Amino acid sequence: MTKEAQFKVAHGGCMRGEVTMPGDKSVSHRSVLFGGIAEGTTEVDNFLESEDCLATLGAMRAMGVQIERPGPGRVIVDGVGLHGLKAPTHPLDMGNAGTAMRLSMGLMAGQAFDATLIGDPSLSKRPMERAATPLRQMGAVIETTGGRPPVTVRGGQSLHGIEYALEVASAQVKSAILIAGLYAEGTTVVHEPAVTRDHTERMLRAFGVPVKTEGGRIELSGGHTLKGTRLTVPGDISSSAFFVVAGLLAAESGFLIRNVGINPTRTGILDILALMGADIRVINRRLAGDEPVADLEVHRTELRGIDVPEHLVPLAIDEFPILFVAAAFAKGTTRVTGAEELRVKESDRIAVMAEGLRHLGADATPTPDGMIIHGGGMHGGRVTSHGDHRIAMSFAIAALRASGDIEIGDVANVATSFPGFAGLARGAGLAIDETR
Ligand code: S3P
Repeated sequence: MTKEAQFKVAHGGCMRGEVTMPGDKSVSHRSVLFGGIAEGTTEVDNFLESEDCLATLGAMRAMGVQIERPGPGRVIVDGVGLHGLKAPTHPLDMGNAGTAMRLSMGLMAGQAFDATLIGDPSLSKRPMERAATPLRQMGAVIETTGGRPPVTVRGGQSLHGIEYALEVASAQVKSAILIAGLYAEGTTVVHEPAVTRDHTERMLRAFGVPVKTEGGRIELSGGHTLKGTRLTVPGDISSSAFFVVAGLLAAESGFLIRNVGINPTRTGILDILALMGADIRVINRRLAGDEPVADLEVHRTELRGIDVPEHLVPLAIDEFPILFVAAAFAKGTTRVTGAEELRVKESDRIAVMAEGLRHLGADATPTPDGMIIHGGGMHGGRVTSHGDHRIAMSFAIAALRASGDIEIGDVANVATSFPGFAGLARGAGLAIDETR
């Protein structure tokens, strides 16, 4: 990976026509993980071929799962069953992907062999005890490195179900526990303090595993066989958020974003932008497998600042970098609170966004759990993404309304979630160049 990759984005321009969103990252990870431990074949359409999801795919291959990729977005997984994985011959490299690592911790807890999970410098700084702690209560033996990766999971343990109240609203931790629950004796119950994305629950049901959900309580029991199935991955609402805000800042007329997953556990960004006055029309609602999708027609809007309701934070957790950009161009003040989780994402997204916004002249003040932004726009300049894909894409979109050009350093990791971003954005009107 070249650290020097950068975006140069000329200011101004407008968004026009339409773009189609690539597959959802969270759903793609789960499709190959569950496909791998299912019995029979799982066929996946619109799989996101990003570095993060390919890390999960590579880990499953390294444990003996045959996976074919016959065409763009097509993946065929020859499942080996719950107990058919083989010991990997080397540490499993999860790259930049927190989802790959934490879900795999749950998976490895139930295996007969040991495995070590490693990651890139960013992932190696992220907290893993939040997943290790409940898994240990289930009987797993897990060693972290001062709470972080590398993580070694010792195989051959017998797991038992637990009832566990999550300390943080984290879909990754919830999923790790539920996946270990597949291997556990008895019933596993997770209580979440706020609603988080429910792709694991939905997909396990698609594989034939009964999962009960009632309010914030999720329950499954061990020993069920996953049956291979057909999955269509919905478009990624987190990727679409960059284009939604781009359209709000600078749509020529109705700018159309096609194939956006609108699972209600992911649509916090649409609710927050609506409170800011955004003109976003959700049209052509339909289903992609077990997940709802729609097209979004976005009209240029002068947004207004708001106090972001805290219950929407977990439902928009990956969208705050681009939301901060939207707030910087809004009229009035936007306050984000209750979002301290942003500090342990691919970068410290509160610190890194505040640094970049302030460098570009925006009035942004970081707080321990969020940010206060007084709208008023920004000028051009050079910022760094600190290797964080969503920071890089957010500052690229900011150029639409900044008074000068914006250069963003260290953008190679955009490929972890959205490999075609620059080309797609250029085609729709953003004056972006990627140089290496
Ligand atoms: C994800 C859950 C979220 C999110 C991440 C993907 C998932 O992380 O930020 O990008 O696929 O389960 P947390 O569980 O840490 O909130």
